[in-house]
Amino acid sequence: MAAASSGLILGIESSCDETAAAVVRRGAEILSNVVASQIPIHSPYGGVVPELASREHLRNIVPVVRSALAQAGVTYQDLDAIAVTEGPGLAGALLVGISFAKALAASLEKPLIAVNHLEGHIHAVLLEEAHGRHSARQPALSDPEEAKRAKGESKEPALLALVVSGGHTHLYLARMHDGAWAYRNVGRTVDDAAGEAFDKVAKLLGLGYPGGPWIDALAPHGNPEAVPFSFSQIKAKAHRKGDPGALDPAEATYFSFSGIKTAVLRYVHVHEMEASIGKRRAALAGLADPKPSDALPLCDRRTLDLIASFQRSVIDDLRRKTFRAAERFHVDRILVSGGVAANRELRVRFTADAAENDVAIAFPALALATDNAAMIAAAAWPKFLGREFAAASLTAEPSLALGSPA
Ligand code: KG4
Ligand code: ZN
Repeated sequence: MAAASSGLILGIESSCDETAAAVVRRGAEILSNVVASQIPIHSPYGGVVPELASREHLRNIVPVVRSALAQAGVTYQDLDAIAVTEGPGLAGALLVGISFAKALAASLEKPLIAVNHLEGHIHAVLLEEAHGRHSARQPALSDPEEAKRAKGESKEPALLALVVSGGHTHLYLARMHDGAWAYRNVGRTVDDAAGEAFDKVAKLLGLGYPGGPWIDALAPHGNPEAVPFSFSQIKAKAHRKGDPGALDPAEATYFSFSGIKTAVLRYVHVHEMEASIGKRRAALAGLADPKPSDALPLCDRRTLDLIASFQRSVIDDLRRKTFRAAERFHVDRILVSGGVAANRELRVRFTADAAENDVAIAFPALALATDNAAMIAAAAWPKFLGREFAAASLTAEPSLALGSPA
């Protein structure tokens, strides 16, 4: 089957609040990428409500998959495999995608491929690099087939991937070895994810959901040096004993973002900002489809300075620790992916640091930074070539980890 294949993989993603399906050729060329967002459903609650997410996935999965095939101009029979997110994510949400993908693969008699959502985020960047090389007819070293063919290139140098989203803040050393990707987890958050901090701070300031794009849009209007926030250094040792997610202390990078949220809350109390926040929240709630531009005239200088300072502090912490890890592991290539990688100031500051440190840096296109299924289909391609197929017993793994911790 693989020998004569045209390399068409249908990816399905339903781990959180987006129902997504995409058709990707040979892990590099996106033929379609359909995302049904549930933002309007969860917005009134200021966060994802798991039961509502499962219900919406059930409602959306069939039309989303159908339109992914239609937009790609392919039929079910043309597909070579079905790839689906196995975890991490919300159990009920994951199960919708997995059950659908399993049924589809069984009825079409096509292989089923299980993909880790975090690996998907990394491949959002790799797929674009592979596509660029294909079109330029250069050897695509992130394409396992070509990598295997390239003489003496069975082991590539490692790259460092920062996956920074609403649910995760992770650093991975990623390396392709004999056509398969291997990951080592060398950094993680001990509490909130960076995107979660954006979401919580936006919520407590009376802005919309999810908070990242609101803070991104409002931050340039404030002074990022107005409010000094500090990040404590987190000792690896403190997160070793009895911690199943503990990393090797010799190489671990730990992030922590719950403190800054508390610091913002304290700042709000001290400066008695509650009344103006309440007014802003009510004004935005009265709009049918509120946008960050609606919030701008509702924010005073102090609020804009607070937003800018919060964003600068989070980005600086991510930036400092990521580049320190790159130096420690002697890598000369960094990828930043996940929803927070859509942030404009993050891209500018990481790019400047990369130039200064003589390190290559890459981000996904904006549409591929947040959750999507093209990244799942792309991550499945090396597994398809390696015939790494999922068993019929595949089920949701809400706490699935990526790679070895040491
Ligand atoms: O990757 P993603 O879509 O879902 C998860 O796997 O979590 O990431 C969503 C997260 C949310 O926390 C959202 O606020 C954040 O990414 N986000 C941003 C931006 N766009 C999305 N954070 C900062 N700046 C942005 N422009
Ligand atoms: Zn994600």
